[in-house]
Amino acid sequence: MYQVIARKYRPQSFADVVNQEHVKTTLENAIAQNRIAHGYIFSGQRGTGKTTVARILARCLNCVNGPTNVPCGVCASCKEIAAGGSVDVIEIDAASNRGINEMRELRENVRYQPARDKYKVFIIDEAHQITNEAFNALLKTIEEPPAWAVFMLCTTEAHKIPATIASRCQHFSFRSVEFEALVARMAWICGQEGIHADAEVLSVLAQAGEGSVRDSLSALDQAIACCGDTLQATEVRALLGAFSLDALGHVSQALVDGAAARMLEVVNELERNGQNLQHFSRELARYFRNLLVAKIAGGETRLIAASAGERQRLAEMAAQFSEEDLTRYLQLSLDLFRDLQFSLQPRFHLELGLLRMVQAGRLLPIEQALAGLGGGRGDAETQRRGDTAKPAPRTQNPAPSPAPSPPATSHQPPATGGTAWRQRLHASLMELGMAFTADAIEHSEIVEANGELRFTTPREFSIAMKEADINQAVRQIIGKPLKIKVTIGEVAAQNQEKVAAAPAAQQESDVSRRALAEVQPFLDQLGGEVRTVRNLKE
Ligand SMILES: Nc1ncnc2c1ncn2[C@@H]1O[C@H](COP(=O)(O)OP(=O)(O)OP(=O)(O)O)[C@@H](O)[C@H]1O
Ligand SMILES: [Mg+2]
Ligand SMILES: [Zn+2]
Repeated sequence: MYQVIARKYRPQSFADVVNQEHVKTTLENAIAQNRIAHGYIFSGQRGTGKTTVARILARCLNCVNGPTNVPCGVCASCKEIAAGGSVDVIEIDAASNRGINEMRELRENVRYQPARDKYKVFIIDEAHQITNEAFNALLKTIEEPPAWAVFMLCTTEAHKIPATIASRCQHFSFRSVEFEALVARMAWICGQEGIHADAEVLSVLAQAGEGSVRDSLSALDQAIACCGDTLQATEVRALLGAFSLDALGHVSQALVDGAAARMLEVVNELERNGQNLQHFSRELARYFRNLLVAKIAGGETRLIAASAGERQRLAEMAAQFSEEDLTRYLQLSLDLFRDLQFSLQPRFHLELGLLRMVQAGRLLPIEQALAGLGGGRGDAETQRRGDTAKPAPRTQNPAPSPAPSPPATSHQPPATGGTAWRQRLHASLMELGMAFTADAIEHSEIVEANGELRFTTPREFSIAMKEADINQAVRQIIGKPLKIKVTIGEVAAQNQEKVAAAPAAQQESDVSRRALAEVQPFLDQLGGEVRTVRNLKE
């Protein structure tokens, strides 16, 4: 008779239990010191070894050599427990025996000595399903147990065990089994079974289990039933409805390229191949989660359940995005997943969700849009993307790039004196696209003293006198910043040297032109048009 792999390979000793070192060590120590508790709670995710460990512990206690850490495996008790039919190890499935009557029966049963072995062990599976009344009945027994009684409560939901019970038990939390451990266990089992499965196949199966050994082994069973003894990654993926990095990579690549049309193609392909769209959206959320984690923690991280090769590829893709981008995409993909749960039109929702991601990729963080306002600070689009992204195709308005600074020693400070500074600063600020600051400089008195630049600026211009902006120009001129001090005050008319004297009408259009230059980067990024320009200083 065919036995499913998960059962066939249920560990019979602590040594075979993977990834639960803390549980094993503590229990082994307790047995070695003969400190056996009357109550144990084994909690944790499904398929991580709770029932398995309960049975092993029962063996350790009831083996003819027991209590022992290494049950012999051949005595009547060991054999019976392995087969699940020992008189003194009673397994109760609380999912179907959850009521008061069952617990009363159990209470009766506890009172009688073990038939043959040292202990009478009650393994209560799915213990959280027990009703409150029944828990109360159980509590009486656990409070004053006979010397031979040992209770083992297995549950995926430890918080549902009443505190009155929990406080009388030793509690062990089982971990989700790590990717590497799952892969290793399955590789070993495949070896035993004569199944050929390469690293990629094992990775697909391990991911399918999401930390549960049983789920991964069930996936393996399914794969063997479908593909025989040589497993191919593509077939196994198709069987499990899993998506390859390539398939998911189409989405992220379309985001890199801002290609909305390609997103629609992705959905079309999924539909054509009869893929489950909800499942896809779920995998997509996991994919963006992994990209974000790879971005933050690097491709080596163990926080991603994937093979080394896959993590490397995730890290490469993640390098094309900023952390903020990936955070946003993860959020959007989670929203999409939630929406698809209830959607009557999953295709439309998926299309909408993917197109939203493309659009979100076009949004600039507001800080960068503002930084772009002054111009000369590099193409915001390029900054938004990761380092390796190709520059955005937005070239009709290239931002003036700051002249590369020659080595500091070659810098000639401008001839001391306000006039020289004024002219150099004005030119440099205009070049940087900061026309309003240039204008304010023109109306200021400038004194250089003790490595400081001191400005006296009329109130109406003072708002444009930002130290960081001025220093950007200063750095262009002398290769380093200076301490900037701005005092608000009146400036004698003769000190307000106009850099370029111009008739009034000409000046008026100058102001409009500068204003337009200031606004242009916003128009580039956000669209729109300028209707009128008003000079608020007048
Ligand atoms: N830590 C582990 N090491 C090795 N195999 C494991 C482990 N955990 C689970 N398995 C495999 O999965 C099968 C099911 O494990 P077990 O019944 O102990 O899970 P469980 O934690 O009790 O799950 P559930 O909450 O669903 O009852 C075992 O037969 C075994 O093949
Ligand atoms: Mg179980
Ligand atoms: Zn034995």
